[in-house]
Amino acid sequence: MNVDNYLTEITEITDHRGKLIIAEEVNHIPFDIKRVYCVLDVNDGKPRGFHAHKELRQLAICIKGSCDFVLDDGLERTTIKMKDAKQGLLIEPMIWHEMHNFSNDCVILVIANDIYHESDYIRNYNDFSKATRS
Ligand code: TYD
Repeated sequence: MNVDNYLTEITEITDHRGKLIIAEEVNHIPFDIKRVYCVLDVNDGKPRGFHAHKELRQLAICIKGSCDFVLDDGLERTTIKMKDAKQGLLIEPMIWHEMHNFSNDCVILVIANDIYHESDYIRNYNDFSKATRS
């Protein structure tokens, strides 16, 4: 997998007061925004994710701390360390993703192009693998 295809640059403005992180439709986010959610207060760094979406498009930004994102397209698997708010990770449909090794202070902001639909999830790796082959 070419990691560069999944990474996008987020604007960060720092001055004497602190930092601003800016993600705008079109300029940073290649889809219409319908939902925003956060992963935070991680419990002992327990891994999360372990699913793919059939249609949902998402952009994840690690705004604090760090974690490892595993991405899998059914053929290849790659791990991307997220520790810089200037780095956005695009999670496109039919990409199996897992989050591991959360630091205690980790905060992940996720921007999505649709509201939550459980029917859009593939939560079983074998089902995902079969779907990518068909
Ligand atoms: P899930 O997506 O499985 O979490 P993760 O991928 O981080 O492991 O979501 C956990 C629970 O929260 C699950 O019952 C679905 C629910 N949920 C919503 O109701 N709305 C949402 O926007 C999200 C992301 C999850």
